[in-house]
Amino acid sequence: MRGSVKTMKTGFTLTVLLASGLGLGAVWAHSGATGIVKERMDAMTEIGDSVKSVGQMLKGEAPYNREKIADAGQAIAGHAGQALTDLFPEGSLHTPSEASPEIWADWAEFSKIAGTLKESAVALSDLAEAGAGEKDIAAAFGNVAGTCKACHEAFRIKK
Ligand code: HEC
Repeated sequence: MRGSVKTMKTGFTLTVLLASGLGLGAVWAHSGATGIVKERMDAMTEIGDSVKSVGQMLKGEAPYNREKIADAGQAIAGHAGQALTDLFPEGSLHTPSEASPEIWADWAEFSKIAGTLKESAVALSDLAEAGAGEKDIAAAFGNVAGTCKACHEAFRIKK
């Protein structure tokens, strides 16, 4: 009984995070993107796909598979930290980029969130690898998803 309440709560949190922060399910492919803007949109799309696959497992919409969760965490981590910030050379805002000029006005904060994404994704992967329970995995996943949302709210302009 207690377990089911927790599951419901987790499910709710995930649904809210997924619906509000990430725009999952929306069409991401921006036609006409070139160069570094295309590169980072592609990287973000891959991150988004990984988040979506784990989210589906935690919501019971796909078979739960720790190995795949560990891989998804690694994939996200590989696009995070400096790999992420390297895709944002100063002033790279050409159409159809949704990046905010705030990125370069507050580079320290932007880099910090990129680093937090890497740490939280590695933590998720390590937990899955170590065979942690679903509740701990869901909490770690919540940290990852919260990081996406934090950065998008501050540094991405929805067009
Ligand atoms: C450190 C900041 C930062 C973090 C962390 C971050 N993003 Fe992004 N994301 C951005 C910015 C900035 C853009 C807009 C890039 C552009 O349009 O030039 C973006 C765009 C996107 C897009 C749209 C890509 C497209 O084709 O237009 C998706 C999807 C996305 N992010 C998913 C995620 C997910 C999922 C996470 C978390 C696992 C995440 N992002 C974490 C900054 C971040």
